[in-house]
Amino acid sequence: EKKHKVTIVGSGNWGSTIAKIVAENTRQHKNLFEEQVQMWVYEEQVQPQKLTSIINNHHENVKYLPGITLPSNIVANPSLVDAVRDSTILIFNLPHQFIGNVCSQIHGHILPYARGISCIKGVNVSDDAVSLFSEWIGDGLNIYVGALSGANIASEIAAEKWSETTVAYDPPPMDSRAPTPRSGSPLPSPGFTVTEVPDGHHRDARGRTSKVRLTGVPSTYPPLDHECFRMLFHRPYFHVQMVSDVAGVSLGGALKNIVALAAGFVDGRGWGDNAKAAIMRIGLMEMVKFGKEFFGETVQSATFTESSAGVADLITSCSGGRNFRCARKAVEKGITVDEVESQDLNGQKLQGTTTAYEVNSFLKARGLDKDYPLFTAVNDILRGTKQVDDIPQLVAAADDG
Ligand code: NAD
Ligand code: 13P
Repeated sequence: EKKHKVTIVGSGNWGSTIAKIVAENTRQHKNLFEEQVQMWVYEEQVQPQKLTSIINNHHENVKYLPGITLPSNIVANPSLVDAVRDSTILIFNLPHQFIGNVCSQIHGHILPYARGISCIKGVNVSDDAVSLFSEWIGDGLNIYVGALSGANIASEIAAEKWSETTVAYDPPPMDSRAPTPRSGSPLPSPGFTVTEVPDGHHRDARGRTSKVRLTGVPSTYPPLDHECFRMLFHRPYFHVQMVSDVAGVSLGGALKNIVALAAGFVDGRGWGDNAKAAIMRIGLMEMVKFGKEFFGETVQSATFTESSAGVADLITSCSGGRNFRCARKAVEKGITVDEVESQDLNGQKLQGTTTAYEVNSFLKARGLDKDYPLFTAVNDILRGTKQVDDIPQLVAAADDG
């Protein structure tokens, strides 16, 4: 039997942490996976060597994950095309602003039956539409892509402190080895209603027949099912919950970044824990509302309120995430969040600011921005048209209405 070859597309703070987890597991489960893990690195000079040479020789990403020894079976590769060649599993893990360029470079260079997992926390807003990065990458590359998201501050997981995560994967029917319950229909998976899909197709994250015609994973490979992905990501310090709600998991990770900025704003004003809890409560309501309004066919409220990718990520991000910390400092120092990001993060990228702008332009285009007062307030504060002190009044108006 063949083994799955795994590539991590990205090598930042979270990309390097996920590479560590995956490489530990490919070493442990040699019956399922090739031991060596490719990690694509956006090449740059660091002290004065190339970052890939430092990672390959010293097994440390000194710029984006300093102080953590990476397993020696990770190969840092500066060539995207070479890193993804012949891989059956592609893990997309980079700031969302760079994914478009990366996908256009790898298009045509991957196995037709590759499968993906997106660890990206953001949504893709274009032409007045909103889509998930999992579906957008999948449509662009003609493959199926699930999502991993959770209360996962990278530095804590890299230090092997216990946490949970949620992996959403809705196995395409053509990958299934077991007899299908009805001709042409996929096996039921947790949380999903079985719907008929034409041969070669699958459901997209909204439950419609996807326009992508998939190629099945050959039966010479171990089945790429929930168990296989659990083996790839689960560690004693990183507990995986497998679900099928790709939309809920992806939206939780994207939208909480807007809320974390708001939490940072009120903390920076010194308003204390009650104010922060109010931000989390209102933010969670807007997250659920957004999911129901735009992905209502498939999204489950429980993904927001019960999974690591929902409420737990919201809490950790509003406690110690980068978006929270940068927003708090911006208010304390009277400078912009962008300024704090470039001064303090050493090249790491915030996702909340761009997500706040993107979600706002999407809502505004539909005349719905007033229905999401917290998301709108964050956009307006970032743009300088509203103040942190306006937040109580802005969100109260919505509760009254
Ligand atoms: P990061 O914030 O460390 O970003 C830096 C990365 O971007 C580096 O690998 C850098 O090489 C790369 N980069 C810079 N310019 C680039 C370019 N022009 N093209 C391509 N790449 C470029 O990244 P991260 O923390 O690994 O985040 C990746 C995703 O994971 C994000 O969506 C983030 O929200 C999510 N996430 C992060 C954490 C965390 O704690 N860091 C936790 C969970 C999820
Ligand atoms: P930040 O990008 O704000 O650090 O959030 C990290 C995260 O997603 C924690 O789950």
